[in-house]
Parts: sequence; C-alpha cells; structure tokens
Amino acid sequence: MTNQVLEAIMKRRSIVRFKSDSIDQDKIQSILEAGRWAPSWLNMQPWRFIIIEDRKMKEQISSIVPSVFNLSIKDAPVCVVTCVNSKTDPFHFIEDGTAATQNMALAAHSLGLGTSWIGIFSLENERKSSERKLKDLLNVPKDWRVISILPIGVPKFKETKTRKELEQLTNYETFTEQDKRKILQQKIEKPKQRIEEVLDHLDPISTPPV
Ligand SMILES: Cc1cc2nc3c(=O)[nH]c(=O)nc-3n(C[C@H](O)[C@H](O)[C@H](O)COP(=O)(O)O)c2cc1C
Repeated sequence: MTNQVLEAIMKRRSIVRFKSDSIDQDKIQSILEAGRWAPSWLNMQPWRFIIIEDRKMKEQISSIVPSVFNLSIKDAPVCVVTCVNSKTDPFHFIEDGTAATQNMALAAHSLGLGTSWIGIFSLENERKSSERKLKDLLNVPKDWRVISILPIGVPKFKETKTRKELEQLTNYETFTEQDKRKILQQKIEKPKQRIEEVLDHLDPISTPPV
C-alpha cells in the first residue's frame, strides 16, 4: 500500500550537501507551516522557529556545533533552528520540538528539497554545551531549549540509507522472552564506530548525483 505521505516518509533521506540554488520564500513558508501543524502536548505549541539565511550567522553556528557533519549548515541556503519553551510544556517539550522538526523535514522533501537533522539539544545543558553557546548567539530566552537545526537546500547527492527489517523492530502485545535474550546478547554498537560508517557512506563517489 502506498500514497504520497507514505512515499515522502520512506523516500526522505538526510542530505548534507546542497547545490548553491536559493530556495523560494513560498517553499520556506510551507515548510514552516508544516512545523506549525505538528502535534504538541495539550496543543501548547511551545515553538519558535528561527530562520537563518545570513552567511556569517551560518558560519558561526557551524563553528559551535561539534558534529562531524556540520558542513551542511554552511552549505545550506537556509537553516531552521527549532526552539521550545520548556516552561510552557515542561513534560514533553522535547517531543514537541522533534515532531515539528520531522514535519518540516518531510515537507521539505515533498517540495523537492533536502534536509539534515542536526541534534543540538543537550540533556545536561551544562554551561559550555553547544546548546548553551547557540542560545547565546541566537539570543534565545532563559527556559527555552534548542532542539534541532535543520539545514535546507536543493540536494547535491542522492542518499540511499536503509533500515533494519520490520521484524527486528516489532513485537505484538509484549516483548517476548526470546527477543529479550537476543537483545541482551547483541553487541552494542559504539557511536564512534557508527560515525565512521556514516562518514564512509557520505563519500560522494558512492552517492550518485541527483
Ligand atoms: C535526534 C537526531 C539527531 C541527529 N543529529 C545529526 C547530526 O548532528 N548530524 C547529522 O549529519 N545527522 C544527524 N541526524 C541524522 C541521522 O544521522 C540520520 O537520520 C540517520 O543516519 C538515518 O539516515 P536518513 O535520515 O538518511 O534515513 C540526526 C537525526 C536525529 C533524529
């Protein structure tokens, strides 16, 4: 079974290299609308979307973000930073921000654009975290948290990442004891090893131009 929504969900991939083409304001507005229509706890809508187009600002943000993939921030014509008010929704502000981010990523894809989700939220919010530095740079008020940065642009390369099989991810009614045993036996993949795999995958030679 398929339809346009399912297709957008299944065909969206993170895009980290963009063409230099600018993006129509209409498209940016539609993407922001998709963020606005995300669900939120008690419909509190605790969001603020900050649109970044200034080159210098993008460079500054890029230097703050520790991600090995932060080049996409400088490369993209537009970045949307999603902030949430953690006082308005103290229970589910992370989910509110992530739902809006994903809505915007899917909307961008449906309009022929690419995005790459940059995770910025820091659980500890320690003084020197990237989130703290970004809050200072963007003048984000106290009690607000920065959930994500979404660089948006015209994709330069096609990405082809896959997913685990559905059987590996689902149980009906409850976990089975057999699955629990299997999970305990699984080797936990180290994030560092994973980052190297992802970087290998980003080799432009293995990703045909769009
Ligand atoms: C919470 C979260 C944080 C992420 N942070 C980053 C990031 O900092 N840099 C990046 O390039 N991709 C980031 N991603 C994108 C993932 O790497 C990507 O979604 C995953 O590898 C699957 O690839 P796909 O989106 O192309 O299907 C993040 C995704 C999520 C959901």
